Amino acid sequence: MENYNPFSLKNKTILITGASSGIGRATAIECSMLGANVIITARNEERLHETLSMLDISERQQHQLILADLTESDEIDKIANNISLLDGFVNNAGVGMSKPIQFIKEGDLKEIFSINTYAPVLLTQKILKKKKINKGASIVFTSSIGGNFTVTAGRALYGMTKGAIHNFMKYCALELASRQIRCNSVNPGMIETPLISSGTLSSEDIKIDMEKYPLKRYGKPQEVAHAITYLLSDAASWVTGHALVIDGGLTLK
Ligand SMILES: NC(=O)c1ccc[n+]([C@@H]2O[C@H](COP(=O)([O-])OP(=O)(O)OC[C@H]3O[C@@H](n4cnc5c(N)ncnc54)[C@H](OP(=O)(O)O)[C@@H]3O)[C@@H](O)[C@H]2O)c1
Repeated sequence: MENYNPFSLKNKTILITGASSGIGRATAIECSMLGANVIITARNEERLHETLSMLDISERQQHQLILADLTESDEIDKIANNISLLDGFVNNAGVGMSKPIQFIKEGDLKEIFSINTYAPVLLTQKILKKKKINKGASIVFTSSIGGNFTVTAGRALYGMTKGAIHNFMKYCALELASRQIRCNSVNPGMIETPLISSGTLSSEDIKIDMEKYPLKRYGKPQEVAHAITYLLSDAASWVTGHALVIDGGLTLK
């Protein structure tokens, strides 16, 4: 029983997008600590190298870094061409945007959909086409409670992109089940990452907002990472098509 750990990711190779910051970085660190070989990708070279330097190598893991802008189709190709066979894949990169509907411009729609929705769809498709994913692998999408479990004024753009990915995950789960590939999503409430400071909330607004959470605080990136690593692990071997809410109890209300 000494080495019993159904949550282990040892000998698994896992690709994580948006790994230069926040939830993606925390997920990369947790995956490495559970023994995985991690492939990290994002645009910012300095921050991505910083993540690489934080990864555990005690199991002699081989980690890899790929710089790529996921809104460029040739860069999506670059990732798919340069990775080895995956056992896990976390579609996590994304941006926030707050705008009342009357101020939304066509360019805003293109900007946010290209990274939050098109990129995970196109990268997943490319990896499948190139047969870079193992039978029995696990794909996790970072969706959100926003647009799926809550509706907040001014957040239509963001909610639409996350609603689309919430649904895409279910179609993926059904279509890939014959290959024993599982697909699930995590749906966080507010998590303390640089993304939430890109919104319109002042620090006073944030304090008031935190009070709405039964656990009286926002989540931490590592708390989402723990849910993602569970879904990547063999402990979740019969879990597919599930949208896991991680929100300190907010949606209980
Ligand atoms: N924080 C929250 O409250 C919260 C709640 C629910 C869901 N989420 C979701 O969680 C995911 C991670 O967000 P986070 O909070 O960790 O935010 P974050 O700290 O701002 O990280 C976002 C990541 O996405 C990457 N990224 C953005 N645009 C990209 C592009 N065009 N190409 C490649 N990579 C790109 C960024 O890397 P580079 O800038 O280096 O490219 C960064 O690594 C997102 O999908 C977000 O919607 C967050």
